[in-house]
Amino acid sequence: MQVVQLKPRSTRRPDATGPADAQPVDAVPADATIHPIGAQAVVHSLLAAAGTAEFAPSILDTQPWRWQLTGNTLTLYLDRGRIDDDVDADGRLAILSCGAALHHARIALEAEGWRLTMNRKTDPADPDQLASLRLEERSPADPADAPLIGSIPLRRTDRSPVTGAPITAAQLKAVTAAVRAEETSLHVLYPDEVVDLARVASGARPAVSGSGDRSTGAGPARLADDRGATFALLYGHTDEPEDWLRAGEALSAGWLTATAEGVSVLPLSAAVEGTATRQAVQIMIGCVGYPYLLLRLGRAPAPPARAVPRSPR
Ligand SMILES: Cc1cc2nc3c(=O)[nH]c(=O)nc-3n(C[C@H](O)[C@H](O)[C@H](O)COP(=O)(O)O)c2cc1C
Repeated sequence: MQVVQLKPRSTRRPDATGPADAQPVDAVPADATIHPIGAQAVVHSLLAAAGTAEFAPSILDTQPWRWQLTGNTLTLYLDRGRIDDDVDADGRLAILSCGAALHHARIALEAEGWRLTMNRKTDPADPDQLASLRLEERSPADPADAPLIGSIPLRRTDRSPVTGAPITAAQLKAVTAAVRAEETSLHVLYPDEVVDLARVASGARPAVSGSGDRSTGAGPARLADDRGATFALLYGHTDEPEDWLRAGEALSAGWLTATAEGVSVLPLSAAVEGTATRQAVQIMIGCVGYPYLLLRLGRAPAPPARAVPRSPR
């Protein structure tokens, strides 16, 4: 069986478009929209999905994932070589980034009219093998997914200060629902919790400079600049690599929804990078769960539709 390895960006192999050992898919339901299905359509869709995943956000813009295309299956691996040990020793933020890429690829395939099976933890013997997406059959795309797909090239990290009016309850509800649909929770911080978090974060390890792409977390200066911001924590009830992967899927779903709703997003990871600060944040939110990532939400300065669409990185 021929296997095609896909790497993001510069490390992506030039021969990544070669044919794979794809099998035709049968058992199309009688009421489905019928398209010609064959090896080429399968390979084309899976390669396109891996390309769409390159738009996903990632810690320090490292894109710490790689894809393997085998038959009608795209398998996602953590690329440990791209983990920054100073900020992400246990790889949780890298796996979270992989989850965002997985969600991008999944909704791209669904929007293209594929019913698929997603499996997480596909090989217990290989902790770097995170998930797989297997194409099953053609299926009508869900029109409800259209805004998410449209947001993929428009989504970006917004580091400018948030000084205007806060986001509306309806905007927050939409983002929260998108996160919940991916089996992760969002805890919106009360004003006194924001102050406590600033105190915790100001004692955290300073953010690593070098890539120039990171703010320094949720320290007092940051919060003073962000009077119109809403701060919310992605969290869950367990704290295993599979939870971090789900949290990344939820991050992607919430962020794409936010983009469609005119809400800007800035992840602030400094408060969850170190074990001690993460535990302090956990206590601060009343131990409702394990914190994965802090998000700053604000009104986007301009409607996203006016932004210049990007190419995959
Ligand atoms: C898990 C994770 C943690 C992140 N932490 C921060 C952060 O602390 N500060 C920051 O400015 N950006 C942070 N980012 C945003 C990335 O730097 C950003 O996604 C990357 O530079 C690509 O830019 P884009 O989101 O505009 O496509 C984080 C992203 C992810 C996925």
